[in-house]
Amino acid sequence: MTASTLAQWMLQSNSTLILTGAGMSTESGIPDFRSRKGWWKNTDPRTVATVESLQQNYELFREFYQMRIQSLMDFEPHRGHEILANWEARGHLSLIATQNVDRFHQQAGNHAVAELHGNIVTIRCQSCGKPLPLGHFVDNAVCTYCKGKLRPNVVLFGETLPQEAWNRSLKEIQGADLVIVIGTSLEVYPVNQLPAMCKGRLVYINLDVAGNSRNFDLVIQGTAGEVLAEVDKYLQEPIVE
Ligand code: APR
Repeated sequence: MTASTLAQWMLQSNSTLILTGAGMSTESGIPDFRSRKGWWKNTDPRTVATVESLQQNYELFREFYQMRIQSLMDFEPHRGHEILANWEARGHLSLIATQNVDRFHQQAGNHAVAELHGNIVTIRCQSCGKPLPLGHFVDNAVCTYCKGKLRPNVVLFGETLPQEAWNRSLKEIQGADLVIVIGTSLEVYPVNQLPAMCKGRLVYINLDVAGNSRNFDLVIQGTAGEVLAEVDKYLQEPIVE
């Protein structure tokens, strides 16, 4: 009944926000960070995902993000992403606030997306801040303007979140009737503070629900693709009580 309950809550909601994490993209083939096969299982994030690593160990930093960018090219959004794009088109959601840097929500057709941790497919110079083509970073080039180090526009640990994305997500979450959190361990600050700011109903869809379930009105354990498909079925033919 949980999928039909969520569908009913969505139909009753005038403003639904979706908050996603890396678990939203694992069915596309991209690892998450903290699960058994996650990126941080074999790589210490301090050595590749901090400003210090960019400044002090640039080759390792660049290699790590080149590898992630390359692997992204082999994958594409899955049905879960497509369902969320369809929900936006049908007016069932007002914003996707995402921690993901893969732009799969936009690739699947969503327009209302706030990139809370930036993205991995656009590049800038760490020194002069000027944007440069992705290919320059992939080809180990330096900044054509100042010879500075190139880096993807991801938010590294210790960096502040993009203000526009954060403010938009905060405003939407505080006004939302319904917030659906999908595929995140909620371990990373400050995004993990956002669900608590919702005054409406709060739903958690995740493979591993241990440790987080007490804060939610409804918890659905499962994969994003399967659960979203289940809910979408009920949205297509609403249950008449
Ligand atoms: N469907 C639903 N949930 C899933 C799926 C799936 N197919 N696959 C994995 N999960 C769940 C895992 O059980 C885990 O709880 O998704 C969660 C992913 O958690 P993390 O790996 O911690 O990823 P996330 O929460 O997005 O990390 C936050 O940390 O490393 C930084 O900047 C990085 O944005 C990232 C942030």
